[in-house]
Amino acid sequence: MGGNPRKMLSAGSLRASIRGDGLIMENEITFKDELAPGVKLIKVRAPLIAKKARSGQFVILRASEDGERIPLTLIDWDPKEGTITLVFREVGASTKELGRLEVGDAIHDLVGPLGRPGEVAFYGRACVIGGGVAIAAAYERAKSLKEAGNSLTAIIGARTAGQLIFKDQLRKVVDRLYTTTDDGSEGVKGSPSDLLRSLLESGERFDLVFAVGPEALMKSVSEATRPYNIKTIVSLNSLMVDGTGMCGCCRVTVGGRTMFTCVDGPEFDAHLVDFDELMARLRMYEEEERLALKVVGRRCRG
Ligand code: FES
Repeated sequence: MGGNPRKMLSAGSLRASIRGDGLIMENEITFKDELAPGVKLIKVRAPLIAKKARSGQFVILRASEDGERIPLTLIDWDPKEGTITLVFREVGASTKELGRLEVGDAIHDLVGPLGRPGEVAFYGRACVIGGGVAIAAAYERAKSLKEAGNSLTAIIGARTAGQLIFKDQLRKVVDRLYTTTDDGSEGVKGSPSDLLRSLLESGERFDLVFAVGPEALMKSVSEATRPYNIKTIVSLNSLMVDGTGMCGCCRVTVGGRTMFTCVDGPEFDAHLVDFDELMARLRMYEEEERLALKVVGRRCRG
């Protein structure tokens, strides 16, 4: 574990500095791509975060002054270039607002790296599982685990073939790649946890399973590995406000104890996480999100 996750290394808004003959804006978007419909990748100038980032950590940002705080996993970081890479799906009002920023625009504020770095070590046979937009985070962990010398299997899943992001990049990193889709348009029809279960039933064994994605997927991966006593780590997406362990918004029960995802996580032993409680908490704000989307829709239409 490196550093104190309670310390925010870069905060505040729209700072700029003179370097060479140009004005360098902090939090500036330097690259943008659409990986799949509604799934965007951005590179952001954030030299302090890029210097300190470790696998599994995240940032919290606000696209504008009155925007909501959005926690996003660090997908890549380049200390030389001073940039970090983030991937998000435009699902709510705030992520839609973020998605409208273009290259040259600046994110209003950005803090990080937050959370404890993930455990990256040599386990032997590791399996990385990613669902939906979180395939990006699975790719980042696959790279780190490969560098640590593990033999690597990846199982990625999405609703449909066009949503299977980072497929080509993963193929270059892992020893075996399996894909699943809900509609059967590519790979095995079903979810990554179904595929994992059938691999385990056919005698496949792993020394580590890492899963990231929707809570239902992580819960089901956890249930699949539990009977085999396979070390299973999940990266949780809780609701977050301050990201420093002060507000209590991201609390989760792990092994009967209350933990804060932002400072004690985001990665936990899957077999100890109370997923039902976590999913109930995530559903609490669905109505507010629907209202926020209506307001943003009105703003966009003028
Ligand atoms: Fe406030 Fe974690 S986000 S305690």
